[in-house]
Amino acid sequence: MKLIIDDAHIDQIKKIYEFYPVDGVTTNPTILAQSGRKPYDVLKEIREFIGADAELHVQVVAKTAEGMVEDAHRIQQELGKNTFVKIPSIEQGFKAMKILKAENANITATAIYTPMQAFLAAKAGASYAAPYINRIDNMGYDGVSIAQHIHDIFKNNNLNANVLAASFKNSQQMLDLAEYGVGAATASPDVIFALVKNEAITSAINAFIRDFESLVGEGKTMKDA
Ligand code: E4P
Repeated sequence: MKLIIDDAHIDQIKKIYEFYPVDGVTTNPTILAQSGRKPYDVLKEIREFIGADAELHVQVVAKTAEGMVEDAHRIQQELGKNTFVKIPSIEQGFKAMKILKAENANITATAIYTPMQAFLAAKAGASYAAPYINRIDNMGYDGVSIAQHIHDIFKNNNLNANVLAASFKNSQQMLDLAEYGVGAATASPDVIFALVKNEAITSAINAFIRDFESLVGEGKTMKDA
């Protein structure tokens, strides 16, 4: 399962890239608004930092299929032809996906709350389908289970698409999907920083350091022993 950052704050993205094994960046219009910067300014900075071949997902905003295609073309022109254009999984969106697929665009179907949306999006040409795990949970359904159903639907129908699970609020949701082998998960910096934030881990490591220092001296490590 790929691990992707769902954010547009360049300082946070750089920090996560320094420490964690991540595979790219996803954004949406709300995330861009939270950056407080001009959309293409911040997106170009992210593209430059992660590199031309890394996965970058950017959402269209237009309401009609034709407008979505125009948005997608501008996104590709500004950020590279390989940029994944996120298209809402609604009627107009399926039409846009079919047009963009004919141009060999990389498509991420987004705003997915039901397996049927994902099935139709994959048939229309999306490479990824993004179910919103936590938002689905908040509606009283099981987001992880819906993502697993979508994964199975893709495999059982030989559809060339993967789940890109989104909208996480905790590690367990991500772990359940990693265990199932879905294609990718995208999470906010807060969720990523909390993945291994655990008192037991910190205390075990501190005990090793204390024991070693009692043997060799304060501040000493294996290179000094
Ligand atoms: C992904 O495609 C979505 O834009 C995003 O992950 C939604 O996350 P949220 O529910 O935390 O806003």
